[in-house]
Amino acid sequence: MASHFNNPDLSSITSFRVMELLAQAKQLEADGVKVIHMEVGEPRFPIAEPILDAAQQALVNDDMGYTEATGSSALKQTLADFYRERYDVNVEPSRIVITTGGSGALLLLSHLLIQPGDGVLLSDPGYPCNSNFVRLVGGEAQLIPVGEESNYQLSGTAVAQAWRENTRGVILASPSNPTGELLCRRQLSDIYQSVAERQGFVLVDEIYHGLTYGEKAVSALEVSDDVFVVNSFSKFFGMTGMRLGWMVVPQACVATVDKLAQNLFIAPPTLSQRAALSVFEPITMKILERRRDLFQQRRDFLLPALRDLGFSIPHEPAGAFYLYAGIQSFLERGIATDSEAFCARLLQEEAIAITPGTDFGEYGAAEHVRFAYTADIDDLKIAVDKMSRFLNK
Ligand SMILES: Cc1ncc(COP(=O)(O)O)c(C=O)c1O
Repeated sequence: MASHFNNPDLSSITSFRVMELLAQAKQLEADGVKVIHMEVGEPRFPIAEPILDAAQQALVNDDMGYTEATGSSALKQTLADFYRERYDVNVEPSRIVITTGGSGALLLLSHLLIQPGDGVLLSDPGYPCNSNFVRLVGGEAQLIPVGEESNYQLSGTAVAQAWRENTRGVILASPSNPTGELLCRRQLSDIYQSVAERQGFVLVDEIYHGLTYGEKAVSALEVSDDVFVVNSFSKFFGMTGMRLGWMVVPQACVATVDKLAQNLFIAPPTLSQRAALSVFEPITMKILERRRDLFQQRRDFLLPALRDLGFSIPHEPAGAFYLYAGIQSFLERGIATDSEAFCARLLQEEAIAITPGTDFGEYGAAEHVRFAYTADIDDLKIAVDKMSRFLNK
């Protein structure tokens, strides 16, 4: 293989460590072992039937050619209605851009907002692709360590303190991956003020909205129109493989985003857009809300169970489907040397797959792991029993 074909700049792009574990899990499964998967960040329910029906009908009846580069006007209007009903905010449909997953939106925004040498503030731990998106366009990922004391979220003060001469903006997520923690209205507003004073951009990833338990997530659009909001049909709507997301951008950026979208993607997937028109129907929402309740039941089971086992999760996260857990006590007892070794042992000895903290940054990463409660509750119970045996060996 001619390795000189590889762009050397890509050496700074990190891959997911959990993929190695996933490969080992696949090997175990090929050998007939049942692995309990708590590593993958996807809902793992079948696509809701009304969405499938809509997709099937569209395939038979609709034109499957390209839509507009920024998405079909019907879906934009549906999403504008959703913002009015859900958040009581008016969003002009023209500010909505339909994308290939939330990932497509993040890629477009990286090109729109970041020039080579620009710094972007991110929480550590955080969604790992964000640092890589920043690096891919020549920017500098400026990681701010966040811990339990701030519920793993940034604040206006933390942003102000970390701001450097080359900093251009901040990327936030609420609820966050890997911690499931929310940003409240005051936090969003403080961060927005702090960044606006410095003429920077605020990008908020809201792709876990809808998956909150008891508390409704506040959209950054409730705080200002002058923000970039990313969302997706992957998580609450359970359409991961349909690769559809959207973003809301300030009106002044619409034309440039359109140009970028034409060049990078031509258009988002037509079939998925047709299917997505059905997600806000009451019958679909009912199914999705029932699924959300199941996630809540799983969280309510798993959180105390993990605490009883000795994992450290000081605060109950209100959203997403993740628990970010400290394993310090197990490291002290010599069960493993760090989070990667811990996850490797858990997989090899108990056939339980979880993600090491090192996939989400550096700060505290060797002492944390992430559980995705996307497995059904019976499997979660089996996993807890197995972990109890493993940790008390
Ligand atoms: C915080 C966050 N943002 C964005 C994404 C991208 O998701 P998708 O491209 O499927 O919308 C993910 C996926 O796990 C995520 O966790």
